[in-house]
Amino acid sequence: MVQDLTYKDNPELYEEVENIPGEKAMFSKAADVIALFAAQKRKPNKRGISILDLCCGTAPLYDYLLKHDYPNLHDETLFDKITGVDISPKYLEYAQIKYNSKLAYQQFDEDKGVKLEFILHDAVDYNHSEKVDLILASSAYHHIEDERKIDFLKKVHSQLKDDGIAVFCENLIDDYSNLEERAISVTDFYTKRIDEMRALGITDRRIELVQRILKYELDRDYEWKNSYNIFMKNLGEVGFKILGEYKVWPSTKMFENYKVGDFVIIAGKK
Ligand SMILES: C[S@@+](CC[C@H](N)C(=O)[O-])C[C@H]1O[C@@H](n2cnc3c(N)ncnc32)[C@H](O)[C@@H]1O
Repeated sequence: MVQDLTYKDNPELYEEVENIPGEKAMFSKAADVIALFAAQKRKPNKRGISILDLCCGTAPLYDYLLKHDYPNLHDETLFDKITGVDISPKYLEYAQIKYNSKLAYQQFDEDKGVKLEFILHDAVDYNHSEKVDLILASSAYHHIEDERKIDFLKKVHSQLKDDGIAVFCENLIDDYSNLEERAISVTDFYTKRIDEMRALGITDRRIELVQRILKYELDRDYEWKNSYNIFMKNLGEVGFKILGEYKVWPSTKMFENYKVGDFVIIAGKK
């Protein structure tokens, strides 16, 4: 039987897509960055930072954030309010159930100070009620169609406090100058990803799921990855400067171009 591995709007399958080496490393690094920023902002008797998570999906990164936040130890939480915005009702419902079921024993608990809300909206034209300390865009930018990417980044910029930061987790492919070259870059990226997964002994359907990502890319549907240079140009164009950059995958010299791989990029307002 041929399995349908269309993970768009299928939250259970999506969580499997995220359970691969490079993606997990992005979550872990981004959570470290977010927690460090929140700790630096912490003031006695004040609430923690506000986070807007655009294209939050099933929000797997919150589990990594939770590891940093121990209200019982510090009295004050690192995070005040986290708002996840996504266009998929099924993903949001899944996230809601997942984290509500954890409220009893984990820290996304209103009584302990961290408010968690999920909003169904297109992230490109979502207007939050107030500016936030931190915007998380984890595997978000590459899910926005190329012709709307600048509008998306403008929205990220405009909803951030002047001293806030945006944290992007992105898979960045090799340089290209047309769609044909782009197809080659993205095919190379995922072929090497799959080769490495196999070399690590992964034999389950995560391999087919990564092949499905590549199919979305080649079909110009749902996944629209950019190169590092295009992403940087777009960030600069809307008024961002780079404050930090971590390459989390691959750890070997798999690609000639060092700027190909999975990155966590921290940006602030110019
Ligand atoms: C790869 S998932 C990333 C989810 C999560 N941020 C993570 O890191 O695992 C991409 C998400 O973007 C959402 N999405 C795609 N286009 C969107 C849009 N225009 N506005 C809001 N969400 C969107 C999808 O529904 C999906 O949940």
